[in-house]
Amino acid sequence: MNLQNKVAVVSGASRGLGKHFSAQLIEKGAIVFGLARNEADLNGVRNELGEHFHPIVCDVTDPDAVKRAFSSIQESTDSLDILINNAGLGRFGAVEEQSLDDWNLQIDVNISGVHHCTREAVPAMKAQNKQSGFGGHIVNIASVAGLVGNAHLSAYNATKFAIRGYSEALMKELREDGIKVSCINPGSVATHFAGAAGSSGSPNPMQPEDVAATVIHVLEGPDNYLISEVAMRPLRPKG
Ligand SMILES: NC(=O)c1ccc[n+]([C@@H]2O[C@H](COP(=O)([O-])OP(=O)(O)OC[C@H]3O[C@@H](n4cnc5c(N)ncnc54)[C@H](OP(=O)(O)O)[C@@H]3O)[C@@H](O)[C@H]2O)c1
Repeated sequence: MNLQNKVAVVSGASRGLGKHFSAQLIEKGAIVFGLARNEADLNGVRNELGEHFHPIVCDVTDPDAVKRAFSSIQESTDSLDILINNAGLGRFGAVEEQSLDDWNLQIDVNISGVHHCTREAVPAMKAQNKQSGFGGHIVNIASVAGLVGNAHLSAYNATKFAIRGYSEALMKELREDGIKVSCINPGSVATHFAGAAGSSGSPNPMQPEDVAATVIHVLEGPDNYLISEVAMRPLRPKG
């Protein structure tokens, strides 16, 4: 897809990977609607990235808030070409010590949040396919933690394995509607993620701009060419 003038929704756009996806989409000429909960952080991204970044305060765990966000996007633009389901978090810990709140939070953001955004985007993309023959592209940010299990990551692993299954199901369900679905599985990336998850993270993580460049490559593929899944890791995670 040529990204010039394309309309993208990026969840978790207030920092980290989502901010870098937004920046690189805008560099390619796209218009980005960025979702996150923290308004001040979103406005900071708007100040950095300029008028092609449209901040929308939205908690992806709240289906009504997601519906309102997509309605407001559809009121301001005719198309919806890209959805990057990126909002996500980890809360690591021993299985018997993991609080029910932390379990539910990871399920709600990492799985239900992806579903709430996807089910709002798909009707618009299907309608677009009927008009132009190209529906759009949904990119789900899973993790290497969706490929292999790790001690103390049981809830997080469960959510990211789930997103790989969800992505594969959607990829098969939506391809005939001209909608591409890709699942991206990064290893450690230098963002706020590890600290918030209660982990020291990798001493030598990947940089978010490098992961974003790969996602841009996936989006820019020719029409009849779908990269359905990608994994990336730091070469030397221990430095
Ligand atoms: N960093 C890594 O090592 C790594 C590795 C593999 C996969 N990932 C995945 O990459 C994605 C992005 O993570 P990151 O590393 O960029 O982490 P980050 O720097 O902590 O950013 C997380 C983003 O998600 C947003 N978010 C969290 N809960 C939300 C909610 N309920 N509704 C809307 N937005 C919400 C946050 O904004 P607000 O707080 O303002 O809502 C923030 O913009 C996640 O899905 C994560 O699982 C990360």
